[in-house]
Amino acid sequence: MAGKAASIGDYRALAKARLPHFLFEYLDGGSYDEVTLRRNVADLQSIALKQRVLRDVSSLDTSAELFGKRWALPVGLGPVGLSGLYSRRGEVQAARAAAAAGVPFALSTLSACSIGEVAAAEPGFWFQLYIVKDRGFVADMIARAKDAECGALLLTVDLAAPGTRYRDYRAGLSGSLGGTHRLAQVLRRPEWAWDVALRGRPLTMGNLEPVVGSNAALSDLMGWVARNFDASITWKDVEWVRSRWDGPLVIKGILDPDDARSAVASGADGIVVSNHGGRQLDGALSSARALPAIADAVAGRIAVLADGGVRSGLDVVRMLALGADFVLMGRGWAYALAARGEAGVAHVLKLIAAEMRVAMALTACTSIGEIDEKILERGGNQATF
Ligand code: GLV
Repeated sequence: MAGKAASIGDYRALAKARLPHFLFEYLDGGSYDEVTLRRNVADLQSIALKQRVLRDVSSLDTSAELFGKRWALPVGLGPVGLSGLYSRRGEVQAARAAAAAGVPFALSTLSACSIGEVAAAEPGFWFQLYIVKDRGFVADMIARAKDAECGALLLTVDLAAPGTRYRDYRAGLSGSLGGTHRLAQVLRRPEWAWDVALRGRPLTMGNLEPVVGSNAALSDLMGWVARNFDASITWKDVEWVRSRWDGPLVIKGILDPDDARSAVASGADGIVVSNHGGRQLDGALSSARALPAIADAVAGRIAVLADGGVRSGLDVVRMLALGADFVLMGRGWAYALAARGEAGVAHVLKLIAAEMRVAMALTACTSIGEIDEKILERGGNQATF
């Protein structure tokens, strides 16, 4: 029985103890020297909030509207690859926890559970789409997302070339010695092996099965990505997606104000300010640093979502104050899923809500709409912003 968890940091430690090494490294790691991964967390945490008192904060409303729906929190579970392997049929568990908490869940293209499997258990989720070279297959995935009545399509555009992840190579997720390394690591995690590898079958890439067959992608996921993702995509392809999807379309992976303006012009309904959790261009700006200029460039014309480094409800409030309308969390929920399944994800969402309430009460914001740059301490220990 795992120990008590009071924070996302605690869930990270529990996930490390429960997952086979290669899976934990895949989830936890970033590209190259992980500079951007660390910056995401450190830059966000370095932002000082302005404490205010005696303002009657007895009634706090943490709800927020996005894409025509009111959510309990301005927070969603962002797409995380392979999350179905962190716990048995993990994406279904995460979708259930999100729905129960009144927040959106985004299913990754690179998931174990297919769109259909998640829809049968908990409809209404968002779908994250990659554009691969086979456009017929992409069109088919969009059609499947439509059939499943997905609430939004998140088009990820920052994987034109996959960043090298040293940890994946060392742990055997990529590279030629993978199979033997991985088996030894699985044998050291009998609880996981029983829960996921035996009772959680089939272990396939649910959405990709029509193109990769039943197990091919799992043994060399990023190799498959490198061979099949389309590096030639441009804003024309965004138009192509737009013409096939009439629900909310969100471009994920924007880190530059000019790209944000192009996203507005493309007819998208939103963007995600993101460096892919520090897993792509190492050395890119942290999301927290990139966000204010992008929010200015968008100027309220479409929704600005942000991810990268969110490890608490305080971080959610910081992202909102920097200009985000909505915040996505990736590793935070996936650690909890690995540690405790659906109950872990539900608990993390409770923690986030409770931490947000403290941050709102002590910055004198009684609703999400009141959170803006006025709650940021300029010139305090926030020297870099
Ligand atoms: C996939 O999107 C990954 O970052 O591994």
